[in-house]
Amino acid sequence: MAFNVKKLPLVEATPLQYLPTMSRELGIELYVKRDDLTALGAGGNKLRKLEYLAADAIDKGATMLLTVGGAQTNHGRLTAAVAAKYGLKCAIAAIDDYPGEVSANILLDRIMGCDLILKADDGTDEGAQFDRLVPQLVAEYEEKGEKVYPIPMGGSNALGALGYYDCAVELTEQAATLGLGDARVVSTVGSLGTYMGLFCGLKNENSPLRLTGVAISPFGEAKEKRLMEYFGEMKALYPLAFDAVREDFHIETGYTRGAYNNPCVEVRQAIYRMARAEAILLDPCYTGKAFAGLIDMVAEGKIQKDEKVIFLHTGGFPGLYTKHHRVEFERELIDGVRIIK
Ligand SMILES: Cc1ncc(COP(=O)(O)O)c(C=O)c1O
Repeated sequence: MAFNVKKLPLVEATPLQYLPTMSRELGIELYVKRDDLTALGAGGNKLRKLEYLAADAIDKGATMLLTVGGAQTNHGRLTAAVAAKYGLKCAIAAIDDYPGEVSANILLDRIMGCDLILKADDGTDEGAQFDRLVPQLVAEYEEKGEKVYPIPMGGSNALGALGYYDCAVELTEQAATLGLGDARVVSTVGSLGTYMGLFCGLKNENSPLRLTGVAISPFGEAKEKRLMEYFGEMKALYPLAFDAVREDFHIETGYTRGAYNNPCVEVRQAIYRMARAEAILLDPCYTGKAFAGLIDMVAEGKIQKDEKVIFLHTGGFPGLYTKHHRVEFERELIDGVRIIK
């Protein structure tokens, strides 16, 4: 538990595993931290953040969690899972169109009893659209007697980041046990909470591990601003014994492949490679893209031959079933399906 902040016991230490075949193929010493194997709601990184966020909600007497994201948000699914586990109501608000079917995360959200509110994108700033939608929904649910605890996109605020501060401590101990020295940790960067928690945890605890983030969506001015603002929030709230400037954050921004959650052949190739070498399933939005970035970094010499690398698997496998990715998988994989009449 970081800094004596209240926390629910949702996540047990996840395995740190050596990947012999991928290591051989890539010419590095590759390990994977299995945060896809956290225990509730099909697993993933957001449970660590929710240990803190849901504890705060319960502490404040909330009866309901409400979060935001895209229709297929993994964070929304895990918020639904935690709400179910603790007898809270849950809703996800998305600025998105209905994909035409109750599938992938939407299916899992609904199975776990969570409401999903889809509001068509009106083309204006997404943050501003959420700023209008969320208070409206909070008012609606509160009129029905609920006490709503809003959770930001990806659970990425200063409280949520503590989940990955804790992961940094856990990983440092595991890596030391395996003799991994100053291994490089490679993490997906989306709404920044995972990276920020790891960054603060590794630095503040004097871990020898080095951190490289891989952005999975274009890292423009707004993200740059948010990065430093976010660190400022961490610094203001917690007794961090170090300071940081932009150059201290190592985030690779050249492997976004154009857009968020776009179907992309290099990402699918990375997914096939990992699945066929190690039977580990990556997802097409986050971890597949980050792993495709890792493969490129090895090819470009940014990751040295024989370097020890720990890839943080943040979960997300239901993304494999989203309609716009599924059609591409179908096209590439149907040739291995034999139908005998
Ligand atoms: C599977 C998966 N990996 C990585 C991330 C990125 O984490 P963060 O938003 O904390 O940067 C997300 C965020 O939704 C995710 O669902």
